[in-house]
Amino acid sequence: MVFRNDALAGRHIVISGGCGAIGLGIVKKLMAHGASITVNDILTDQQAADRLSENGIDLSRINYVKADLTDTDETDMLVKTARERFGPIHVALCHIGMVIPKPLLEYRADEWDETMAVNVRTAFLLGSVASRSMLEDGIKGHLIFTTSWVADVPWPEIGPYNASKAAMKQLMRSFARELADKGIRANAVAPGIVSVGLAKQQWDTDPTYRARAQKAIPLGVMQPLDSVADAFLFLCSAAADYMTGTVLLVDGGCSLYPMDDA
Ligand SMILES: NC(=O)c1ccc[n+]([C@@H]2O[C@H](COP(=O)([O-])OP(=O)(O)OC[C@H]3O[C@@H](n4cnc5c(N)ncnc54)[C@H](O)[C@@H]3O)[C@@H](O)[C@H]2O)c1
Repeated sequence: MVFRNDALAGRHIVISGGCGAIGLGIVKKLMAHGASITVNDILTDQQAADRLSENGIDLSRINYVKADLTDTDETDMLVKTARERFGPIHVALCHIGMVIPKPLLEYRADEWDETMAVNVRTAFLLGSVASRSMLEDGIKGHLIFTTSWVADVPWPEIGPYNASKAAMKQLMRSFARELADKGIRANAVAPGIVSVGLAKQQWDTDPTYRARAQKAIPLGVMQPLDSVADAFLFLCSAAADYMTGTVLLVDGGCSLYPMDDA
């Protein structure tokens, strides 16, 4: 996608889980278009510095903040530190995610709780704290949630993950509904089966998953990281200024197939 390389100039974007496989691609793309980025993750400062620089990210141009966003105090600290470094926050990307692949009937209650805490609670906390900061700073800001095509199509053997992504979708729509009159928008990016990160890990280690996934992508190839990053670039840009409450589905057609065929 071609956007001017100053398309995001002057925008301060915070991304949670930004040192993950997809997060790194998003950070690079948004930086290349002029944004100031605060990157959050749970990695130590050294681990994050290593991962970011191995991926060609200029550490002097970003602000890394280690924080566990299941925790309210750490979420407050992230937003405070971000504002101190780069000023008011214009966009918050609620991007953290995890999955425990196993059949639904084998899931333990603590695994359900962990999935909901890491995927949904972190999105609620960052979305809320970032919105309050936008209101205080007089910013017409934007929350962007990373959901998934499985928010609507139940992929087998990741049931609680499917449910968490559906919850994030409705959380996003609730933020959009309640905050529209205050000038704050909320949207989501729903990727498909991406060639890095959580899906790639399953693809590489689980033959059943791989066989299923190979039949489930109408466009025929795992989703390129750049296609996910481009969706974020578009949503973060002024081109998306009239969008709120929307899911931008970028899944290579995965959600077109009835699951019986997959
Ligand atoms: N990979 C895919 O195919 C795919 C498809 C659709 C949606 N997604 C979504 O994209 C997002 C990123 O996925 P990924 O594949 O890059 O995964 P990933 O595991 O590489 O990245 C997730 C990052 O979140 C961080 N994190 C976990 N818990 C945290 C916490 N409590 N506080 C702060 N950071 C925390 C991890 O350290 C990690 O760096 C997730 O929301 C995932 O559900 C992924």
